[in-house]
Amino acid sequence: MKDDRLTYGEIIEKSKDFLMRKNVPSAKCDAEWIVSLLTNKRRMELYLEFDNFVPHEQISKIRDMVVKRGTRIPLQHLLGSVEFCSLELKCDDRALIPRSETERLVELIIERYDLNFSGKILDLGTGSGAIVLALCNILKFAHGTGMDCSKESLSLARENLILSGIDGRIEFKTFDWLEEKELEGSYDLVVSNPPYLSIQEWEQAQPEVKLHDPKHALVSKKGGLQHIQGLMKIVPNILKDGGYFCLEIGLGQAEETKTIMGESFKNVEVLKDLTGVRRFVFGRN
Ligand SMILES: C[S@@+](CC[C@H](N)C(=O)[O-])C[C@H]1O[C@@H](n2cnc3c(N)ncnc32)[C@H](O)[C@@H]1O
Repeated sequence: MKDDRLTYGEIIEKSKDFLMRKNVPSAKCDAEWIVSLLTNKRRMELYLEFDNFVPHEQISKIRDMVVKRGTRIPLQHLLGSVEFCSLELKCDDRALIPRSETERLVELIIERYDLNFSGKILDLGTGSGAIVLALCNILKFAHGTGMDCSKESLSLARENLILSGIDGRIEFKTFDWLEEKELEGSYDLVVSNPPYLSIQEWEQAQPEVKLHDPKHALVSKKGGLQHIQGLMKIVPNILKDGGYFCLEIGLGQAEETKTIMGESFKNVEVLKDLTGVRRFVFGRN
């Protein structure tokens, strides 16, 4: 890409072509996001400005960011944030980028609760804090705890807590459920999006995932099931009677997870994500 005078339409087109040559998925969308961020205009506005020239000083900044995206740095890391369930979350390589499937997990949980719910929520493997922050943002009287074995993830989660303005109802703690085995406390709702990829699935992942999401956030031994099996040993002891345990799982893990969840929980149900994949397993204590 050269630094000549370019209209909004031209710079989006050139950026898209460049990203397509680098095999970036959703090249046009990413080009629009980058131009939007660096010209301080909303994506829709870019099309109102289609034939107008982009200020010259922004062109080299756009070019630099598009080149970085071409090296397969995730768009969310370049933008520095991601929208999750209407919350703006800070996003970097300290934790997994929250996914749209997980937004669906939050929606499915919310459908099962009254908005006046004032119980205690535990998010195991909280990462950026996305799930517990989103739940407590919607359930205004709930109290949340997010736990993770990664101190880096927890530092990002705490920054996101401050950004969210929910402070006072949520805390983040270190806990490793494969090492420590036992956990004290009593919760009304336990939720987890654990690592669930087999090493083979991780090997085949896109560079954005393989090179920039923490590997320990994604990969689990025993074909992707070690962390799910570990949760089944911990959660029954800390979940109150009637409380929900809500779990996100990987492709092809629904039947096995349903079986092992059925050993400790009642009313076990498998739910689909918006693409029709059996992605969540819920049970009650
Ligand atoms: C798939 S990520 C989910 C992050 C976040 N909850 C989300 O949905 O975006 C899994 C998280 O589990 C954490 N984790 C992995 N192994 C763990 C363990 N043994 N004990 C506690 N947390 C663990 C990782 O650090 C990571 O943050």
